[in-house]
Amino acid sequence: MTQVIPTSSTRDDSLKFAYWVPNVSGGLVVSKIEQRTHWSLDYNVRLAQVAEASGFDYALSQIRFTAGYGAEYQHESVSFSQALLQATTRLKVLAAILPGPWNPAVVAKQLATIDHISNGRVAINVVSGWFKGEFTAIGEPWLEHDERYRRSEEFIRALKGIWTEDKFTFLGDFYRFHDYTLQPKPIQQPHPEIFQGGSSRAARDMASRVSDWYFTNGNTPEGVKLQIDDIRAKAAANNHRVKIGINAFIIARDTEEEAQQVLADIIRNADVEAVHAFGDAVKQAGKASPEGQGNWAKSTFEDLVQYNDGFRTNLIGTPQQIAERIVALKSVGVDLILGGFLHFIEEVEYFGQRVLPLVRELEARAERKVA
Ligand SMILES: Cc1cc2nc3c(=O)[nH]c(=O)nc-3n(C[C@H](O)[C@H](O)[C@H](O)COP(=O)(O)O)c2cc1C
Repeated sequence: MTQVIPTSSTRDDSLKFAYWVPNVSGGLVVSKIEQRTHWSLDYNVRLAQVAEASGFDYALSQIRFTAGYGAEYQHESVSFSQALLQATTRLKVLAAILPGPWNPAVVAKQLATIDHISNGRVAINVVSGWFKGEFTAIGEPWLEHDERYRRSEEFIRALKGIWTEDKFTFLGDFYRFHDYTLQPKPIQQPHPEIFQGGSSRAARDMASRVSDWYFTNGNTPEGVKLQIDDIRAKAAANNHRVKIGINAFIIARDTEEEAQQVLADIIRNADVEAVHAFGDAVKQAGKASPEGQGNWAKSTFEDLVQYNDGFRTNLIGTPQQIAERIVALKSVGVDLILGGFLHFIEEVEYFGQRVLPLVRELEARAERKVA
């Protein structure tokens, strides 16, 4: 009989920590600042091992089919995730998937096999796409904003059906299945966790119906609370539960001055042309959502120096300041912090040694107060 492993959604409610896998060159900032981060497999294997030993729960790979705004080289997300899983024992790795280039039958099959190979540690991040040039370059039709989410939702419904049912039948506008039985099914029960990204109305509505996790761009506790309350109210009406992850570019240093200096240096060295080009592309993609609340709708030039508004979360300062801000995010309903770093390996290690113990202490204190 196959071993059954519950997904972590059934485990405790302590904050979870993820890091961005730098499987794309140039790191996580659109800046010419020196970075001791590399997109190679060797670097990433060492990083995954350090992250796992430092207390990180998840690693998030990125999917990019072509260069754009600094990402000159890009390793493919599913095969790269598999390599990281092979090199670790506890870390969960999220493979980023773009519906369009990928079809749900292939993804369901690939990830079921990887789930077996990794003993139940693979997860998926369904990204709906913002980069029209990339789709054009590989000959994929570029759907309008809300159509992209309609396709993603069908994609997720199809995945869940294939992973959990025998003789699965699905007649959608984008995907069709007829009496399809996948064997073997994944070992995680009910299925590997399904994450998604976005901020727009369509992204939130999809989360409130089908996703296990909703990832959003960097934001203040007040800003993200508005989204969380909105999504959770809708999810409750759908009898669905969704967890929330927020992006943050983390700069933890022994003093606040040092941390602020690093931020100032990143922005001073911004690749101005690339930041503007990236801003034009993502704002076009976001504005295309009918209500205009897409991921980057309010981003300033400085925000855009980090691909997903990570400076806005303000996890920049001393370990104590950062730990307090992380716990404040938890108090408005955040379940997971997704961290980007300038020099990944050394900063992930510093975070594990200096910040995480403080977070756990503050979480325990908050729990005692409630009890
Ligand atoms: C945490 C996170 C990770 C993402 N990873 C990718 C990725 O690897 N590749 C990609 O093309 N888009 C990625 N996206 C983009 C989203 O899937 C989505 O297309 C974008 O956020 C647009 O959202 P909107 O509908 O709010 O405008 C990511 C978004 C977030 C928040």
